[in-house]
Amino acid sequence: MKKILTVASVVLTFSAAAQKINTKQIIREAEQQTLLLLKETEAIRVAKPNLVAPRTYEHGELKLVPSRDWTSGFFAGELWMLYAFTKNKIWQQQAEKYTALLEQEKWNAGTHDMGFKMYCSYGTGYALTKDTAYKNVLIRSAKTLASRFHPKVGAIRSWDHHKEVWQFPVIIDNMMNLELLFAATRLTGDSSFYNIAVSHANTTLKNHFRSDNSSFHVIDYDTLTGAVLQKNTHQGHAHTSAWARGQAWGLYGYTMCYRETKDPTYLQQAEKIAAFFFSHPNLPEDAVPYWDFNAPDIPNAPRDASAAAVMASGLYELSGYSKNGKQYRKYADKIMSSLMKYYRSPIGENKGFILVHSTGNLPSNGEIDVPINYADYYFLEALGRREK
Ligand code: GLY
Repeated sequence: MKKILTVASVVLTFSAAAQKINTKQIIREAEQQTLLLLKETEAIRVAKPNLVAPRTYEHGELKLVPSRDWTSGFFAGELWMLYAFTKNKIWQQQAEKYTALLEQEKWNAGTHDMGFKMYCSYGTGYALTKDTAYKNVLIRSAKTLASRFHPKVGAIRSWDHHKEVWQFPVIIDNMMNLELLFAATRLTGDSSFYNIAVSHANTTLKNHFRSDNSSFHVIDYDTLTGAVLQKNTHQGHAHTSAWARGQAWGLYGYTMCYRETKDPTYLQQAEKIAAFFFSHPNLPEDAVPYWDFNAPDIPNAPRDASAAAVMASGLYELSGYSKNGKQYRKYADKIMSSLMKYYRSPIGENKGFILVHSTGNLPSNGEIDVPINYADYYFLEALGRREK
């Protein structure tokens, strides 16, 4: 039977969950899993060295990706985070190795995913080591990403594929790549990166959100006039639906933009997204969303643990900025308790991924109810932010 939650019942259930997160224990188990994932990954890389990171475990197969894949930086980022948690040099050595495998991506101007790839890997490594070589890679990567900015549109182009469908597609996920640009301005003193990030955030704010504060996935722009041509989805259920991970990218992205700019509009947008997410009648009791809030087969629709992990990490940061901070921390704790209890792989299974039950791209029948590297990355990041 479909479960309808009121906001009050969500708040009540959420406060009960808060104390049960044992970070040390979770990290110990994450280390065990990641050692297994490393072993399995190395075994595949002997014959296929161009594959640089494990992405998912699907249909009984551990799938690795080349550096150009948008998910290639998450594994290195996880290794850096395990080093940060444990100070064990083994994790640092592995992190250095898997980070170095991504360096050529700094020149790849064919994608907007530079932030996902390079900030999650080199950026996390730089925060821990202050290695100048990492800094230089980050700056070069930001320059390459900035080359995709279109002044008339006021945004960075997301995809080059499907040119027959979209003229200049911008997806809500792209908010995540702005962190690299803000970092580049700090590292160089050159404000042009910052200005591009702010322009992109403002254009997205204007066109991606509906009156209920959910977001469209893809907005297509006319490059001659800057006008919006289409409001679509690609990975969601329908153009008018709320794709769960998109909502999480939005909250995380605007929270990060508030951190970098202190513009209260961004803080308010993150708060509005949180309100949409946590008052939605289709949010399950464990606060791990179905892959789309409007999936037609709810309550039997697959969940997306990755959306929950991104949301939790964003909420921990938002809790430090907002007058509703306590509530956001409770929401995040509720998500983390659920992920910990019901969405973690048993030790030794799933080739070493930490979380299970994520959904990557259901409409194209890809990665449904599987482990995915970005779910693990944001789960670990959320744990670290919670500790801070
Ligand atoms: N493009 C990132 C995602 O699938 O969420």
